[in-house]
Amino acid sequence: MRPPLDDSRILVTGASSGIGVALARQLAPSARVLVLVARRGDRLQDLATDLRTARPALTVEVESCDLADGAARAALVEAITARHGGLDILVNCAGLGDIALLEQSDPAKLELMLQVNVVALTMLTRAFLPGMVAQGRGGILNISSGFGLTWMPVVAAYAGSKHYVTAFSESLRAELAGSGVVVTQSCPGPVATEFEAVAGNPTGQKVPGFVELTADQCAHASLRAFRRGRALVVPGFVAGILIHLGASSPRPVLRLLYGLLGRLARPRLLSQDR
Ligand SMILES: NC(=O)c1ccc[n+]([C@@H]2O[C@H](COP(=O)([O-])OP(=O)(O)OC[C@H]3O[C@@H](n4cnc5c(N)ncnc54)[C@H](OP(=O)(O)O)[C@@H]3O)[C@@H](O)[C@H]2O)c1
Repeated sequence: MRPPLDDSRILVTGASSGIGVALARQLAPSARVLVLVARRGDRLQDLATDLRTARPALTVEVESCDLADGAARAALVEAITARHGGLDILVNCAGLGDIALLEQSDPAKLELMLQVNVVALTMLTRAFLPGMVAQGRGGILNISSGFGLTWMPVVAAYAGSKHYVTAFSESLRAELAGSGVVVTQSCPGPVATEFEAVAGNPTGQKVPGFVELTADQCAHASLRAFRRGRALVVPGFVAGILIHLGASSPRPVLRLLYGLLGRLARPRLLSQDR
């Protein structure tokens, strides 16, 4: 089954940067209404101006909203429902990482990450899903991560949050079988966005260029899978091989490998803290 993308009411979270901008640009040609959500309203306004210029018939709306704030989320849902009666397509892309030993991570940032990656994604889905089910058609695209399928030291809480997204998406997809609502998740490896600047990178390790995708490539592969009603996509050939290999390796092997990595990384990161 395929999601009803044509002439649709679409909301994209995280549309002020990176993958969310690319998703919004690539979804614009099929949308009737496109709602752009993130905190940085100035960036959303710039994107909205571009999209309206390219396609005057498209209704583009900007909703500056801190998705970590439950009251702001509720107000967003109320506003969209009042104006459009609901959504046909929800794209949960907003998210952030935190690369640090858990004991060195900032508790406020950790909580923010869990609110956006886990709580906001769940509650927006909960809010817009009944309308989709009632009309017998809808689509939800969740941007998870390769860390939704495997794990590694120094990203414990981020990987945990994306495991949530992956399990949530698969379970919900199964629960919605026969309802007319499609759930697809995208599990990208490294993508060149502002992600690392926000997540931090105390290890100093750079991602090899041949593994990394552009935001446009990631959005294109994600939407291709979504249009076809696929359950899961790992964008990118090399990242796809590495992530599928990680996900299908026996856990004892991964524990050994990542345990060694952890032993190497830990003293270095602890010494940086002094
Ligand atoms: N880049 C990668 O390597 C990579 C790999 C796998 C998965 N992902 C996932 O891809 C998604 C998009 O990330 P990206 O790479 O495009 O990173 P990005 O360039 O940093 O974009 C993150 C987006 O999330 C929004 N956001 C963050 N906190 C928010 C909040 N409290 N309220 C509302 N919006 C918020 C940001 O908007 P504001 O700051 O304006 O609010 C921004 O639009 C995330 O879910 C990330 O986990 C990324």
